[in-house]
Amino acid sequence: MTTSESLLLRAATGRPASRPPVWFMRQAGRSLPEYRALRVGTSMLAACRTPDLITEITLQPVRRHGVDAAIFFSDIVVPLVAIGVGVDIVAGVGPVVDKPIREAADLDRLRPLDAADVPYITEAVQTLTRELGPTPLIGFAGAPFTLASYLVEGGPSKDHALTKSLMHSNPDLWHALLARLADIARQFLRVQIDAGASAVQLFDSWAGTLSLADYEEFVLPHSRAVLEPLAGTVPRIHFGVNTGELLAAMRSAGADVVGVDWRVPLDEAARRLGPGAVVQGNLDPALLGAGPAVVDAAVRRVVEQGRAADGHIFNLGHGVPPDTDPDVLTRIVDTVKSLK
Ligand code: CP3
Repeated sequence: MTTSESLLLRAATGRPASRPPVWFMRQAGRSLPEYRALRVGTSMLAACRTPDLITEITLQPVRRHGVDAAIFFSDIVVPLVAIGVGVDIVAGVGPVVDKPIREAADLDRLRPLDAADVPYITEAVQTLTRELGPTPLIGFAGAPFTLASYLVEGGPSKDHALTKSLMHSNPDLWHALLARLADIARQFLRVQIDAGASAVQLFDSWAGTLSLADYEEFVLPHSRAVLEPLAGTVPRIHFGVNTGELLAAMRSAGADVVGVDWRVPLDEAARRLGPGAVVQGNLDPALLGAGPAVVDAAVRRVVEQGRAADGHIFNLGHGVPPDTDPDVLTRIVDTVKSLK
């Protein structure tokens, strides 16, 4: 089998597949004891700059669970760190920014990203695509809005009030900020595609905090500037949490596949997306601890509902929680593989 004939690429391009391919957002990470062992004494950002660690951590869930795709081990803030933005990843918190972006002069800190800024990404992707054989490698980047939310707030936020204030009170600065972030995100994806990634996912994790009107005016043009120029390279997956009202708009940004969280059943998501839609999702990660009977039934329901779309990539509705029993994930993979 070749990568282009893999279940993931077949589903992503709307071709018939014998069953949904399955992988998990955050499959590489703290749910795996072998990950925690490797990370002892190495910070998250240092790990993201070390090709041997990136490669090994990316491969761990493929070996253990037999998932149909690998997701590149990195983080959405890695390209920002690579151009010199002061941001760290604090365990149990997330990205924390030294000097939040609040005024026009702050934009000078966001210069364009060049492949030479991230040699470790190119090297690790090249090694991985060799080691993975036909199993596709998914590259990724953070979308302009989600990156901006960290840069403006200074860290994680529940209501994104500072971000929304900036967007409405200073739209010129907002659009200039998002244009720079779009450029960086597109370049980061391009580096991964050029090095051999078979698909990419643009994470707009926090876009669901916005109304559709605000999304369309303040975010969509910039996500489009990331995804549209990549048309014709590899399939583009676009995902966010709580985006039931935004699904069609997110597709229109240039997505071949739209990620759906657990709030909207996949058949309803397919209806909202319209003809030709390919969906990814959407098992509720909160069910992973509910026991095998609950999980099995939920997996079957997701697969059944996914048949309403032209293609379905099985996933969770968001990332694997760190306290997940990895055997539950392996069992989900086995269940999906048993469904023809
Ligand atoms: O397996 C994979 O999915 C690939 C690796 C991956 C990571 N981050 C590794 C990581 C991916 C795709 C991301 C993307 C990412 N990072 C997103 C979008 C996806 C989503 O979950 O919505 C976001 C919002 C971030 C920002 C970020 N980085 C957060 C919220 C955290 C968690 C902080 C914490 O400790 O709870 C991080 C750190 C991070 N990124 C970890 C991992 C494995 C944990 C850090 C550690 O292991 O020490």
